[in-house]
Amino acid sequence: MRSVTVRRYGRGARWLHALVYTGVLTELVTGAWFVLIGYEAGFVVGLTDVHEYAGFALTAVVLGGIVVGIRGARTFLAESVRFRRSDLRWFRHWPAGLRTGRFAYHDGHFDPGQRLANLVMVVLLAILLASGVGAMYLPGPFGIAVFQAHRFAAYAITPVLLGHIVIAAGILPGYRGVWRSMHLGGRLPEEVAERIWPGWLAGYRAAGTDRSGGYAIGAGSAEPGTGRAPTPGLRTWRGLWRARSGSARKS
Ligand code: HEM
Ligand code: HEM
Repeated sequence: MRSVTVRRYGRGARWLHALVYTGVLTELVTGAWFVLIGYEAGFVVGLTDVHEYAGFALTAVVLGGIVVGIRGARTFLAESVRFRRSDLRWFRHWPAGLRTGRFAYHDGHFDPGQRLANLVMVVLLAILLASGVGAMYLPGPFGIAVFQAHRFAAYAITPVLLGHIVIAAGILPGYRGVWRSMHLGGRLPEEVAERIWPGWLAGYRAAGTDRSGGYAIGAGSAEPGTGRAPTPGLRTWRGLWRARSGSARKS
């Protein structure tokens, strides 16, 4: 029997994420070539062009994504800057959890480690995009200073991105199964969400609604074989709000 699945991200977020990582990985690989092998050979095979065009495309995707998905961008930031004292407990148990899957409780959409990584990635990516474009157009010493920032931001973001990929690909036992939340429909088994985002899952169940996609858990969108009956009227936030205010009026 197939397990019950929950959905963490809608189609827009998944497409944006895929476009961003295609661009970032292109920049990382070509940038690593410049540092490790040198510019001359890279220039001959056109890698400097690839780096610059992909850089502009990435900048456009990020800015476009923020404009089109401004509400999602705000929620993403708000969910990433939260901090509670209990997060320290979560961090203490994290190294063991990577192996065992037993993490301390947290109530966020992101676990505290993701929140920290999100903030570091946002700041460094902003520096990389701005300094990359700046290095191309700013004259003399400004251009050089900005290029230094570009290089150091690239060095700093590399281990964070590698860490994110290892964790999000579900290579470590504690995070097994996570990769599905950003790929192939964005649904992942409920037990994976229970293990990693217990507070988020409780809110998702209580709402009876898929926050990211507007589908109710167990409604028409549920995986076949879950044994859950459709929940009419709870397919969207508006439906949920109506149902709630209706029941509040009745009581
Ligand atoms: C994730 C984003 C990016 C990463 C990781 C990255 C990484 C790098 C690295 C490691 C280098 C070599 C630095 C050195 O020689 O020490 C480099 C060079 C360069 N980067 Fe980026 N970069 C990114 C985005 C951008 C963007 C958005 C632009 C501008 C559109 C850009 C423009 C450049 C330029 C002009 C160079 C010099 C080589 C060339 O002429 O192509 N980069 N980048
Ligand atoms: C290399 C550029 C990448 C960047 C800048 C990036 C950025 C992000 C950010 C900011 C998030 C939000 C939450 C979090 O921190 O987990 C995220 C989520 C996620 N990423 Fe990436 N990512 C990249 C590459 C990848 C790759 C290659 C994978 C492939 C496995 C991946 C898989 C995921 C998954 C599964 C999530 C969802 C985790 C959740 O449910 O909260 N990412 N990514």
